[in-house]
Amino acid sequence: MTAPHRQRLRLAVFASGRGSNFEAILAAVRAQRLDADLVALCSDKPASRAVDVARQNGIDVIALAQADFADRRAFDHALFDRTSRYAPDLIVLAGFMRIVDSNVIDAWRGRIINIHPSLLPKFAGLRTHQRALDAHEKFHGASVHFVTPQLDGGPVISHVQIEVQPGDDESKLAARLLPMEHRLLVATLQLFAARRISLDGDNVIVDTQRLDRPLRYANDGFADF
Ligand code: GRF
Repeated sequence: MTAPHRQRLRLAVFASGRGSNFEAILAAVRAQRLDADLVALCSDKPASRAVDVARQNGIDVIALAQADFADRRAFDHALFDRTSRYAPDLIVLAGFMRIVDSNVIDAWRGRIINIHPSLLPKFAGLRTHQRALDAHEKFHGASVHFVTPQLDGGPVISHVQIEVQPGDDESKLAARLLPMEHRLLVATLQLFAARRISLDGDNVIVDTQRLDRPLRYANDGFADF
């Protein structure tokens, strides 16, 4: 018997700046470590590095500038409408530095995720590394979560944790976390590609089980999973 045919996951990645998470996804797709198609890179910053990297790699780009729209709502609707023409199964916000209109987010509920550089629910919002240091946290990390209208507040799917070291400052901590973020994101996307993750109300479902705490990425895989 052959395995049932499953459509490859269609991913649209949203990024505003450097785009290293986007690059990590692209590398994983190209190396066939991630069984997905990268259908578009979408950005609110047409001059960003993420846009350049996408173009250099032949990935379709949707890049709009807020200045060309009457207001934020019109911009968000335009960006997501154009994205939907690519029929993505999942939108990945990866360094997309914009609070998106809540109607748009609601329309994508369960099909839009974000990577955030803290162990959510700790440190939603900006300057997460400095805030973790200021709070004398022993551990810091990153989270992948479903996006809801509440900023960085949607159900958390997965975490990766690192130890805060003596002598860490904001940039050292950020630099040590970044490669772990990349791995966490790709590993989490692999679960989506295998159609193992979904959202039911406010519950993350893995296979058929409700997740009672985020999956923990460690040693190149998800522990206790
Ligand atoms: C990452 O730290 C991500 O977690 C956060 O913004 C940063 C984006 O980095 N949301 P990059 O653009 O992917 O390099």
